[in-house]
Amino acid sequence: MPFRQQKWAGPGGVGDGGCVTDDIAAGPPASDLPSPTDGYVGDPAVRAEWDDRYSDRQQLWSGRPNGALVAEVAGLAPGRVLDVGCGEGADAIWLARGGWDVTALDVSGVALERAAGHARDAGVTIRWVHAALTGALFPPGSFDLVSAQYPALLRTPDAAAERALLAAVAPGGVLLFVHHAGVDTRQAQESGFDPADYVWPSTVAGLLDDDWEVEVDEQRPRVIPEGGAGAHHADDLVLRVRRLR
Ligand SMILES: C[S@@+](CC[C@H](N)C(=O)[O-])C[C@H]1O[C@@H](n2cnc3c(N)ncnc32)[C@H](O)[C@@H]1O
Repeated sequence: MPFRQQKWAGPGGVGDGGCVTDDIAAGPPASDLPSPTDGYVGDPAVRAEWDDRYSDRQQLWSGRPNGALVAEVAGLAPGRVLDVGCGEGADAIWLARGGWDVTALDVSGVALERAAGHARDAGVTIRWVHAALTGALFPPGSFDLVSAQYPALLRTPDAAAERALLAAVAPGGVLLFVHHAGVDTRQAQESGFDPADYVWPSTVAGLLDDDWEVEVDEQRPRVIPEGGAGAHHADDLVLRVRRLR
C-alpha cells in the first residue's frame, strides 16, 4: 500500500509519524504493549483515556463483528478497507476473513495489541495503525470502504475527523458510519460526556456535496451483541454514502 512509508518497528506499531504494522500475525506476542515512546500520532490524553478503559477489562466488546457492518458489506466486492476505531479487532478480522485487504486504526495500543493477538489466532493478516484518525497519513482516496462503527471521534471546529473519513474513500467507494441512536443528552452529560462533542452520522452527512450519493441514512434496530460494553444500546444510526467521483 502506498502509505507504508511509515515503518514497522515493534509491537503495537512503533515508527516515525504514525505506525503501520506489516504481517503482525508473525510478530511478537500479543501481551507486549507499545512503549510510551512509540510513534503514536494523536492527542496523548485521548490515547491514555482509551488505554485505561481497555486495561480495566480483559475484554471490552463482544468479540463479534457489528451487525450493521455485516448487513451493509454483504453486497460489496472485497477491496481495500479502513476500519476506523477498530478496538479489539472483531470487525477487522471478519473483513479479512471475507477477503478484504484490511487496515485497522485505533488510538489505543492496548486494544491494538489485543486485536493483533486475535488476528494471529484467526490466521489473518491485518495492517494495524496506531494513530488518531486525523493523525494518520493516508493519501486521499486510499480505500474502497471506510468503516467507522461506533467511533468515539471528537468534533473540532474545522470538522477534521469528518473530512478525514470522507477523504479516505476512493472514487466509487463507500463510507459506512454507524453510531448509537437515541443517546439521552442529559443522561450522557450526567455520566461525564456530552454527545455534542462527538462526530455523528449527521455531522458527516452535513458535509456531503454532489460528489456523494446517500445510499442509506436511517435509524433501525440494532443487532445487539451478546455481552460487552454497549450491549444496552438498542438502535443504530446508519449512514452509508458512496463517493461518485
Ligand atoms: C466505542 S469503541 C468502538 C470499537 C469498535 N469499532 C467496535 O465496534 O467494537 C470506539 C473506539 O474508537 C477509538 N478511538 C477513539 N478516538 C479515536 C480517534 N480519534 N481515532 C481513532 N480511533 C479512536 C477508541 O480507542 C475505541 O477503540
